Amino acid sequence: MNIKFIQFQSHGDNRGSLVSLEQNKNIPFDIKRVYYLFSTKNGVRRGFHAHKKLKQLAVVLKGSCRFLLDDGIEKIELLLDNPSQGLYIESFIWREMFDFSEDCVLMVLADSIYDEEDYIRDYEEFKKIVINDI
Ligand code: TYD
Repeated sequence: MNIKFIQFQSHGDNRGSLVSLEQNKNIPFDIKRVYYLFSTKNGVRRGFHAHKKLKQLAVVLKGSCRFLLDDGIEKIELLLDNPSQGLYIESFIWREMFDFSEDCVLMVLADSIYDEEDYIRDYEEFKKIVINDI
């Protein structure tokens, strides 16, 4: 599947930790947008889409949440609970996010500005596109 965990260098000392994110260095694209999810209500599941072009990298800054990732062939579930780690997600990966801890702050970096045209929000349509592509 076209995803990977990226381990960031954490500059820790007796004051605490610091992680720096730089485009085309430890982030594998030009960063055009940053958004974050917080105060997610208990039991909420969100996402339910794939992107035609967009590449994204998710970092849980606080707390934890789970991702379901699906490339049309396999499905995997991952736990994000480490602010020194980023989850890189390529285009044409269906994603759902769930099991948000009450304190979860999920930050997402994206290589493009928001464009509803880039979304595939219908799972059957997503399956058709990826299967025809294989
Ligand atoms: P939505 O696509 O429902 O979020 P998720 O995929 O996490 O379930 O987005 C919620 C709202 O926020 C929706 O009205 C679109 C808007 N939005 C933006 O305006 N800019 C953005 O960068 C994103 C990701 C969403």
